[in-house]
Amino acid sequence: MDGNGRWAAAKGLPRLEGHRRGAERLIEIIDACIDEGIGTLTVFAFSAENWKRPLEEVSGLFKLGEWILRAHLARLEKRNVRLRVIGDITALPDFVRGPLEDVMASSKANTAFTLVVALNYGARQEIVAAAQAIATDVAAGTLAPAAVDWSVVEARLQTAGMPDPDLIIRTSGEFRLSNFLLLQSAYAEIVFASVFWPDFDKAQLKLALAEFAKRERRFGQTGEQVQPAAAP
Ligand code: FPP
Repeated sequence: MDGNGRWAAAKGLPRLEGHRRGAERLIEIIDACIDEGIGTLTVFAFSAENWKRPLEEVSGLFKLGEWILRAHLARLEKRNVRLRVIGDITALPDFVRGPLEDVMASSKANTAFTLVVALNYGARQEIVAAAQAIATDVAAGTLAPAAVDWSVVEARLQTAGMPDPDLIIRTSGEFRLSNFLLLQSAYAEIVFASVFWPDFDKAQLKLALAEFAKRERRFGQTGEQVQPAAAP
């Protein structure tokens, strides 16, 4: 959800106002994704590196997070939405962690849509933790080094049990992944939207989905192999 700060600066508003408008946009996009039949949406809300921002901005972001939980998630639960989190939430203030854990628990059985919020998340940190978990199992003798394959690694990522992303949308005209789902994005299609996140509306989402639909996903095969056979 990149570009909140620049959106605000362009309008002469404080950065937090950009985040507030970004949070409102997030609610709209969650509803739009459900309406489009998308099963899982993962949003990068706070990176492990975002702690380096001014304290006022960091605490403002967490207050916004709490506001979203209180104001919207009851309604989303009614739409059969499950909330999951990736990242280390033990470092978050209690006033966000508590409600987050409550909603994760109460929405556990919901099946229509999964909202994954990346909070204090970093892909490199996730990979290091997975490597440590594997090393621990190998040292304990419960896992043979030769048995370490992708499924063993995948099961130790924070996204274990979640589908890999088919589409990653990066807003604000930046062309990088910034430590987001680095392993899971191996075969993701990436769409770069030039608009700042607060301007990423339903029409922008539809444009990104249309772009995705045009892509040929080959997963290492040739174009001929993945094309449906022509009718006789
Ligand atoms: C990136 O824009 C956006 C963020 C770091 C925060 C996104 C969070 C929300 C929209 C609200 C939900 C918040 C939580 C914690 C659940 P930027 O500030 O990097 O924009 P810039 O690159 O233009 O400065």
